[in-house]
Amino acid sequence: MTTTVIYPGTFDPITNGHIDLVHRASKLFGRVIVAIAINPSKAPKFTLDERVSLAEKTLAGLKNVEVCGFEGLLIDVAKDKGANVILRGLRAVSDFEHEFQLAGMNRKMNPDIETLFLTPAEQYTYISSSLVREIASLGGDVSEFVAPCVAQALNAKLV
Ligand code: COA
Repeated sequence: MTTTVIYPGTFDPITNGHIDLVHRASKLFGRVIVAIAINPSKAPKFTLDERVSLAEKTLAGLKNVEVCGFEGLLIDVAKDKGANVILRGLRAVSDFEHEFQLAGMNRKMNPDIETLFLTPAEQYTYISSSLVREIASLGGDVSEFVAPCVAQALNAKLV
């Protein structure tokens, strides 16, 4: 049986931490769907199309990985895509409370979908998209935290 896992997020933009998690997931599951939420409440700096395109470029080498954008409830997209597992990254204890709440709500809404957590490699535990955006907007070097095409897009948009 092929297990399809959905990895949701805002990915504004995708970082090396996210990429690390997708690489790990692609070895564990038959099909990995990176689902990018439109998420207007976060007022993303990159449009949904830009976020999808950057994720597609950075994950292009992984054959069992697909990228899609979505609007609406995560559990509905998961069902549409045939995914019975939601994947989330846990970077630090501070992520736990929010993740526990999300997982609980998603389970309440659809008990057939499980949430699993993976931790990124140590060197990525402190990366977040908002910090990367802030560093780029202040003229800092983000090449250690994101793929070259993402660094280029950040410089074009924010500097
Ligand atoms: N490496 C680097 N950064 C990571 C990471 C990793 N492995 N894992 C998480 N992060 C970062 C993200 O970049 C983000 O950073 P930012 O706040 O600086 O942008 C942060 O950790 C996590 O943000 P959070 O808001 O918790 O999650 P998200 O933006 O990744 O995604 C959704 C949240 C999209 C999953 C959630 O809002 C959702 O499901 N939306 C759909 C609507 C829905 O179903 N709502 C009901 C939910 S019960």
